[in-house]
Amino acid sequence: MRARSIGTATAAALALVAARDLLQKKHALLRNFPLVGHARYLLETIGPELRQYIVTSNEEERPFSRDQRTWIYASAKEENNYFGFGTDVDVEHVQGRAYVKQRTFADSLPESHGRPDLPDAVPSAKVLGGPRGRAKAFRPNSVVNISAMSFGSLSGAAVTALNKGAALAGTMHNTGEGGLSPYHRNGADLVLQIGTAYFGCRNEDGSFNLDRLKEVVAGAPVRAIEIKLSQGAKPGLGGMLPGAKVTPEIAEIRGIPQGKDCASPSRHTAFGDVDSMLDFVELIAAETGVPVGIKSAVGEMDFWDELATLMARGDRGVDFVTVDGGEGGTGAAPLTFTDSVSLPFRMGFSRVYGTFAERGLTDELTFIGSGKLGLPDNAAVAFALGADMVNVGREAMLSIGCIQSQKCHTDKCPTGVATQNPWLARGLDPESKATRAAVYLRTLRKELTKLSAAVGVAHPGLITATDIEILNGDYDARTLAAAYGYKDGWGELGPRLAHEITALLAAEPGTARDTLQA
Ligand SMILES: Cc1cc2nc3c(=O)[nH]c(=O)nc-3n(C[C@H](O)[C@H](O)[C@H](O)COP(=O)(O)O)c2cc1C
Ligand code: SF4
Repeated sequence: MRARSIGTATAAALALVAARDLLQKKHALLRNFPLVGHARYLLETIGPELRQYIVTSNEEERPFSRDQRTWIYASAKEENNYFGFGTDVDVEHVQGRAYVKQRTFADSLPESHGRPDLPDAVPSAKVLGGPRGRAKAFRPNSVVNISAMSFGSLSGAAVTALNKGAALAGTMHNTGEGGLSPYHRNGADLVLQIGTAYFGCRNEDGSFNLDRLKEVVAGAPVRAIEIKLSQGAKPGLGGMLPGAKVTPEIAEIRGIPQGKDCASPSRHTAFGDVDSMLDFVELIAAETGVPVGIKSAVGEMDFWDELATLMARGDRGVDFVTVDGGEGGTGAAPLTFTDSVSLPFRMGFSRVYGTFAERGLTDELTFIGSGKLGLPDNAAVAFALGADMVNVGREAMLSIGCIQSQKCHTDKCPTGVATQNPWLARGLDPESKATRAAVYLRTLRKELTKLSAAVGVAHPGLITATDIEILNGDYDARTLAAAYGYKDGWGELGPRLAHEITALLAAEPGTARDTLQA
């Protein structure tokens, strides 16, 4: 009898916990997996103790180590993101690890700067589209922005959370190649991505439709257009969206027939070489007024050589290049492509940058980097190599609850981030996760400002390729400049841009800042 009542009481208590799990909105995992989800939180809590006896160290896991994820989670939740007792990196022996060199004395230190309504914004040192005189050229408010990830690979709830978070943090949100969905219309400025299937701006036969593109741009806060040539995780690869995944909603957004297989070609059909690509860029920039750039992983260099050579003539050009590292993420891709096709970020970016630097063109366009750059130290290396802005993909996903279970390709994402399953997506509460995304983005910018201050400069764009060294064997380190073959001044802003961004950061609100902001 006694055992029975204990059993009933336990069942009632468990039912209560399950009900609370289902109704709360803070933890997607518990909403989707009531009761069972607690095991993960328990393991997370006692993980450090367990790890002393079994499994991996804080630095070993990939793509993001435990320490990196802990930093992102704590930052997004506005919790203490400090670490105690010193580093657990084997600092003298990790080949390729970068070290920022702080300065003992410095003339200029970053103040609280940016827009009055966004006190922690770190604006770009370059005006996007300015050098080519685009009608809607502008200075991005934030050097950190959200990378291309489509509705379709991410749930509507995740896209909503990222878009609202981006709006709160004053960053731009890239739509990804899957078209501009209603979930992208929650307040953030957008970068509209066009992939090879021209989703959202295509004819029935899959060819590009300029009028449709103009309608999309006019109907949403699209600030720039990114033509996707490739991405680091699966470069040179086409794709097939199975008919079963082409729901009425996806069909409407992408402009494709419902329920039918839809192929994404591996190459563009609107242009076939660098020359015709530049004509395409100029056409859409003229017709829409917004800056137009390309996103690509780095493979053979002839493409970049020809691009820089043609741009040196001055009559045509891209407004930005987004260089995606081979270590970048994706919803789904063959292992060989994720592991072995295209160069890693630092190698690829430095080669592309050097191609433009050889021709004295680096102030003429904005360089954007992506590939695990949502961590302050990695981002600092990108800025030192000459990046003007960084895009963050998976780190933003982590900030809204992703637990790196790496099931994105199965439609069984346990946290509702990368799935179209309505039950799983329901677990993700867009409102609370929007705040987390925003706090993470702001924290990343703040950390970049702190790193700039350590180096003694006012802005991340002023960190140079000699301010950071990378470990080369056990007894040697080389500056980034030496490691990547940079010549004097490479990776640095020209004097006019350096002066302009320093003045912009020093200006009081309502004075020169507003003139320079345009
Ligand atoms: C779920 C997912 C979907 C993605 N979709 C796109 C896409 O539509 N277009 C694109 O250019 N890149 C796409 N990417 C790549 C990211 O934009 C980014 O370039 C890459 O993940 C590197 O950044 P990260 O290391 O910060 O994630 C996607 C990545 C992920 C994880
Ligand atoms: S499947 Fe796993 S890795 Fe992918 S988004 Fe969901 S939690 Fe993150």
